Amino acid sequence: MTHDFATLATPAALVDVDRLERNVAAAAAYAAAHGVALRPHVKTHKAPAVARRQVAAGAVGLTCATPRELEVMAEVCDDLLWAHPPVGAAKLARVMTLPRAVRLTVAVDDASQVAALSAAALAAGRTVYVLVEFDVGMRRVGVPAVPAVVALARAVAAAPGLAFDGITCYPGHIRQPMDAQNDALRDLQARLVAAVSALRTAGLPPRVVSAGSTPTMWRTHEVPAITEMRPGTSVYHDRTTVALGTAAWDEIAFTVLATVVSTAIPGQVVIDAGSKALAREPLRGAEGEGWAAVQDRPHLVVQRMSEEHGIIELGDDPWRPAVGDLVRLVPNHACVAMHNFDAVSAIRDGRIAETWPVTARGR
Ligand SMILES: Cc1ncc(COP(=O)(O)O)c(C=O)c1O
Repeated sequence: MTHDFATLATPAALVDVDRLERNVAAAAAYAAAHGVALRPHVKTHKAPAVARRQVAAGAVGLTCATPRELEVMAEVCDDLLWAHPPVGAAKLARVMTLPRAVRLTVAVDDASQVAALSAAALAAGRTVYVLVEFDVGMRRVGVPAVPAVVALARAVAAAPGLAFDGITCYPGHIRQPMDAQNDALRDLQARLVAAVSALRTAGLPPRVVSAGSTPTMWRTHEVPAITEMRPGTSVYHDRTTVALGTAAWDEIAFTVLATVVSTAIPGQVVIDAGSKALAREPLRGAEGEGWAAVQDRPHLVVQRMSEEHGIIELGDDPWRPAVGDLVRLVPNHACVAMHNFDAVSAIRDGRIAETWPVTARGR
């Protein structure tokens, strides 16, 4: 039965189902139109209800960061990429217990990971597919030089229990607005072409070149070396992805519902959503202050936060909400805000249609 979301205890996470489904369909249509495989990253939603929609729309598989995400998503999809260094015996042993039907691919950037993964795959009696992680400029994980990519690919190809399948990278350093990415995308294409051609020469042609992020997603076809894209945030979008030009404000599917709890100090309102609901993440790659914006008054932002208080300064805005009024906030970063909630309320036409557990939260 649907009911009015005004009955929710706040702060609460809301997902606008129509917008979510449009975002899922748009990513799938783009990938299909450009002949690129789509493997969305589930870290944004961690919810089987959302992942099912992505798979139904045509995603070839899902990308996960944690063992918990892999375990939960194994019930939704039988083709999973673990895009995080596979380090730690306990983690590896746990991941090897994923159902046999799951085609598991793991990204590696070190020979020690290859050895440990090979031993774990052999012990579990399964074949694990491997992508070599290539640092294309973010300087987070990945080997930064082409000869090192080839050396690691050789090590994978020689390791029992493992099957070399290609390369992966995360262009998280490309965070400029969409129309200012030309040089960075050209550089990305050049780096990937160099790695692919060196691997071909070495007799290890990569079947997969996995890449992609939300800020670059609509320009993936301009990097033709990429065979598979992994947007995460685009399923919900947020204040950052709109600031970068990747989405329009009315495409944002994720909001936090909060209640005005104090107006005692003139010129400001205090809501019951602070850093433990909205997350303390600045806008990245774009100008703008605050931690979240009011959905229907985006010029108003949460300027200061305690853990359970958010303070919106009204400035010249004539809006004067009363204590008890509800406000919907668009966080700077949907993925980390979502992670503060056990469940999201799925909203259609202003009413709660369903409640979706955020099952893959936690460890
Ligand atoms: C390895 C990897 N792939 C894909 C993504 C998705 O990026 P975005 O949320 O920008 O779409 C992330 C995000 O952190 C990531 O770390």
